[in-house]
Amino acid sequence: MHLTQPSAPLLDIAAIRTEFPILQRMVHGNKPLVYLDNAATTQKPTVVIDSISEFYRQHNANAHRAGHVLGAEVTSMYERAREVVAESIGARADEVVFTRGTTESLNLLATSIGARLGPRLAEGNIVLTEMEHHANIVPWQMLRERSGVEIRVIPLTDDGALDMGRASQLIDASTLVVSCVQVSNTLGTENDVSTLCQWAHAVGAISIVDAAQSVSSMAIDVQQIGCDALVFSGHKVYGPMGIGCAFIRRELLSDLPPYQGGGSMITNVSFDKTTYADGPMRFEAGTPNIEGAVGLCTALQWRNALDLRDVQSYKKMLTDELVAGLRLRSGVHVHGAHHGHSGIVSFSIDGVHPQDVGIMLDTHGVAVRTGHHCTMPLMKRIAPQGTVRVSAAVYTSHDEIAQFFHALDRVMKVLL
Ligand code: ALA
Repeated sequence: MHLTQPSAPLLDIAAIRTEFPILQRMVHGNKPLVYLDNAATTQKPTVVIDSISEFYRQHNANAHRAGHVLGAEVTSMYERAREVVAESIGARADEVVFTRGTTESLNLLATSIGARLGPRLAEGNIVLTEMEHHANIVPWQMLRERSGVEIRVIPLTDDGALDMGRASQLIDASTLVVSCVQVSNTLGTENDVSTLCQWAHAVGAISIVDAAQSVSSMAIDVQQIGCDALVFSGHKVYGPMGIGCAFIRRELLSDLPPYQGGGSMITNVSFDKTTYADGPMRFEAGTPNIEGAVGLCTALQWRNALDLRDVQSYKKMLTDELVAGLRLRSGVHVHGAHHGHSGIVSFSIDGVHPQDVGIMLDTHGVAVRTGHHCTMPLMKRIAPQGTVRVSAAVYTSHDEIAQFFHALDRVMKVLL
C-alpha cells in the first residue's frame, strides 16, 4: 500500500483507510475486499457509524415536538445538521430540505414545480440530458403524463460529452425547467452545469443540478453554479442511507406548494383549512430521518476536513490509472473520454457479457457494478448489454487498482 501519493502530498491514504472498518474485511474466505462500487454507495468512516450509535444511546427523541431535554437536544442536532449541509454547499440553512435522498429530492421538485407551473406545462418543455439517472427522468415523465409537458433531451457527443451546441438550441423561450447531472454515474463525465444554469435563467427557466456523484469529491457552491436547486444523497458522501437533501433557493422554495401532507409541515390545521409552514419544514411531513441527518452532518464534516483539491487530484490519478490500464488490454473498450477526477470508469469487453465479468471479479474479492446503472437511455446509445463500472473513492489505494487489474486479467483468461 502506498502511504502518501506524490502529487497529493496532504492525503495519507493509508491513514484514511484505517477510518473505514469495512475495508479490513475479507470476502469469499480469505480474499481482501477490493471495494470499487463507490458510485453505488460509499463506505462509512467510524466517526459516522459512532455518531449514529451515540444518537440512539444518548439522545433519541423526536425533533420539533417536545419541550423535554432530549427533545431539545435532538431538535438542535437536527437543525445543526441542516446548517452543516448549507455551509458545505454555499447555501443558507433555510434553503435546505431533508429528504430520503437524491431520488426523493427530484420527485419533490418535479411534483411541486409541476403543481406550481400548472397550465403553463402544456405549452412548455423540460430539458434533460441523455446521461441522466432514472431518478432525473422518471419523475419528469410522470409529470408529462399529468400535464402534457414536452421533454427534450440534450444528446451526447460520440466521445461522451454533452453536446452543448444542441443544448443551446434545445433551451428556448418555452423551457420551464433544465435539470442536469453534474457528474455522470455511468461515464464519470463532468458537465458544465453552470453554463446550463445560465442558459436556463436567460429564458426564465428553473435550473436543477443532480450532484449525487460530485458531492464526495468536488467543492460545491450553489452560488457559483448559479442553480435554483441542487440535490444529493448522504450515502454517496460517506454518510448513511435514507437521508439526502434538496437545496432550493429561497425565492423558489417560498413559491412552491408542499409535496406531502402531515405533521410538522403545517402552521395550523382545521377541517376547513390548513396553512403550511414557511421554509424547509413545509416539505418535511412526518418524523424525519433524524439519525440520518446526524450521520450526514458528521459525514460532511469529515469530508470538509479534507482538502478537496487534494481529493480531486488523487482521484484523477486513480481515474487515469484505470483508464490507461483498461485501454492497454485488447478487446476492452472504455466508454466516454471525459472522466476527469470522477473515479468512475465504465467498460465493455468484446464478446463477453458484463454480468459474467462482475460475477467473476467478485470471486476474486473485487466489487464492481454491472448492468445499466439506472441509465437505460444512455445504455441504448453506448452499450445495449450494459457495462462493467469501476468506481473509486478517496480511500481507494493504488494497490487495489493493481488487484483489480490482476483479477481482470485472470477473468479475461477464463472468459476469452
Ligand atoms: N445511483 C447509484 C449507482 O449509480 C445507485 O450505482
